[in-house]
Amino acid sequence: MSVVGKRVARAEGSERVKGAGLFADDYKYFGMLHAAVVRSPLARGEIRKIDFKTIAKIPGVAGILTYKDIPGRNCVPIVIDDQSFLAERYVNYIGEPIAIVVAENRQTARLAAAQAKISIEELPPLLNPLEALNHPKIHLFGNDNIYKHIHIHRGDVKKAFADCDVIIENEYHTPYQEHAYIEPQSMIAIPFPDGSIEIRGSMQCPFYVRKAITTILGLPENKVRVIQCATGGGFGGKEDVPSLLACQVALPAWIFKRPVKLIYDRTEDMMVTSKRHPAYIKYKSGATKDGILRAVEAEYIIDGGAYSTLSAVVLFRGSVHAIGPYKCENVDVHSYAVATNKVPTGAFRGFGSPQILFAVESQMDQLAEKIGMDPVMFRKKNILRVGDTTVTGQKLEYSVGLEETLDKVIEKSGWTPGKSKEDGVGYGISTIYYGVGLGAGGKSMARTGARVLVHADGSVLFSVGTTEIGQGMTTVLSQIVADELGAPLDWISMMPTDTSRVPDSGPTVASRSTTMSGNALKDACIKIKSVLLEEAASMLDCSTGDIIFDEGIVTGGGKTIKLLDVIKSCFAKRLPLSAEGWYITPSTSWDDNTGQGDAYVVYAWASNLAKVKVDKETGEVNLLKIWAAHDVGKAINPALAEGQIEGGTLQGVGYALMEDMTTNADGAIRNPEFSTYIIPTASDQPEIVPIIVEHPFPGGPFGAKGFGEQPLMGVAPAIANAVYDAVKVRIKDLPITPEKVWQGLKNK
Ligand code: MTE
Repeated sequence: MSVVGKRVARAEGSERVKGAGLFADDYKYFGMLHAAVVRSPLARGEIRKIDFKTIAKIPGVAGILTYKDIPGRNCVPIVIDDQSFLAERYVNYIGEPIAIVVAENRQTARLAAAQAKISIEELPPLLNPLEALNHPKIHLFGNDNIYKHIHIHRGDVKKAFADCDVIIENEYHTPYQEHAYIEPQSMIAIPFPDGSIEIRGSMQCPFYVRKAITTILGLPENKVRVIQCATGGGFGGKEDVPSLLACQVALPAWIFKRPVKLIYDRTEDMMVTSKRHPAYIKYKSGATKDGILRAVEAEYIIDGGAYSTLSAVVLFRGSVHAIGPYKCENVDVHSYAVATNKVPTGAFRGFGSPQILFAVESQMDQLAEKIGMDPVMFRKKNILRVGDTTVTGQKLEYSVGLEETLDKVIEKSGWTPGKSKEDGVGYGISTIYYGVGLGAGGKSMARTGARVLVHADGSVLFSVGTTEIGQGMTTVLSQIVADELGAPLDWISMMPTDTSRVPDSGPTVASRSTTMSGNALKDACIKIKSVLLEEAASMLDCSTGDIIFDEGIVTGGGKTIKLLDVIKSCFAKRLPLSAEGWYITPSTSWDDNTGQGDAYVVYAWASNLAKVKVDKETGEVNLLKIWAAHDVGKAINPALAEGQIEGGTLQGVGYALMEDMTTNADGAIRNPEFSTYIIPTASDQPEIVPIIVEHPFPGGPFGAKGFGEQPLMGVAPAIANAVYDAVKVRIKDLPITPEKVWQGLKNK
């Protein structure tokens, strides 16, 4: 490994710093129209009359399209096909798309859309997810308001609770979280005379977009090409939502035979696109006085909003992580994703786990306190290690670095639990884990393709189906290709992700790119390398087994030659130096009846230790420092891994302390602007100490396993535990605002 493991600069870094990257809004096409969306002003209702006569006359308006203009099926397919592209008879949330207006410029399109007259007969909306379980169904699909119910069951919970010395029972609530990607949702569609269509835009999952376009236009897959533009962050918010936007530009582009662009403004983006599911958690856990977690009973309800989108899979992950990274033989977890007449919620870094882990880790500290044991010792007695079995009955065979992450945060911080400290200062710990990849919940999509092309001048181009969204995938995969081929890093370039270059490779979610695309690239490189090896062996007059390739130099048989000369020789002999790579994950299993199975191939592990100072007058929490240790298998690029830890931790700080998105009485998002929805800025950043732990994953490229989501996941409970340590106020409702802490101090 000459390149893997090095802190090389990120591939697109200088381009981003100079503002040179080409984002969707930087593209302009001859004859291009601009789209705007006509949306429902009501949370639930029946459409009675649509009148576009007035807006059709506005100069510059090229046309208005409704579901009647859709040549294919009126559906944006994700998991369950319950979401229309354009509402037909009913609307189910404020902001639901009803029509698309296209005009010669963006301002005219937006103005016309705002003036569209739609008469809707209001129906009573269901806005409270806790009422959803027993409420008459609001949906045209299914028999009730439950998108998915998961039951995880092990042992005998009733008996185990009877044997516990301490029991803690609480209710927790976590709110929406907005992705706050720096670039809003953006998309362009370009129709071609041969009857094909090209989509370019900001996205995480080009193959989802392709499926949506083939569905609404009724086209075969070979007529739809989707290319990712430079993307200003996704964090899960560009997993399924771009499919909707792509439909919103593809339909008018198809009908008017002109390119169409659509960029949401920030308020529209925050009003109508997915967010983290708000969650309601009832949690009961019990332990023996010697510190053994004996029983867990939980009910986990997530508010899925008006359409199911990704709720079922978000719930799957949350449920699998519902007792945290601990051994426990008696478990009964019921989780539900429910429908309400609010904006559909969806994927967000952590995918259903941050909510439940907030409850789990708050419970662990309370159990420890009640037993009279320090929280680190209590965790040490219960954490998973190699050979242990998870809550879903999965035996962990490899790559379990949790204990080392825990030891490392303690060692680096110098903290001794229970040691007396400055007044108002507290420390809080959390230990978490994360199933890497799609796991058993997304088994059919757990495959990835890649293509590698070595040119005669030595330069290498590779293509993958996963996307660069700021996490550093391009750089990490380039490092993998460089070492697999034994070439210098500066020979390697990645093509923009494009559905016409590789087979459907699934989505860029679940921290799966490094392992999936990394392994597919490895597969392609091995094929090319075998050709290079044969050629080098004949040039060096030695056997292939004696040859070493390293950053452009080839040694063997006591001699050294340049890799470039080997490549040239292959070209002279017309040998193939390009290859396809393919990777599917080893099998996972899941039994929906028992909630048992090998849910994920591998897990990443983390410990967070937060140090806070609480102002006892105002309740304000000042996060002084946070130590974050993550077992990543192998850090292909330690600088980027640390960057992920820092960025994800800060996003977790927002979730813990500031981000408070709520709805009005009518179901609309109350604070869809950055003036009222507060996220941390650079000045709010505490000192973050990123710590990398490496317990290699045998199935990962060079031992790596993905971990891009988990830096966010354990931050909120660590801070909540630190606040309690500081002032003995236990906050069970995120975010931990000064008002809540102040009230807690007052109530004491
Ligand atoms: N980091 C940046 N800068 N921007 C992002 O959008 N998304 C996160 C995480 N880190 C994200 C990010 C999410 S939600 C995922 S699933 C992973 O990156 C995806 O990256 P990976 O598959 O390469 O691990």
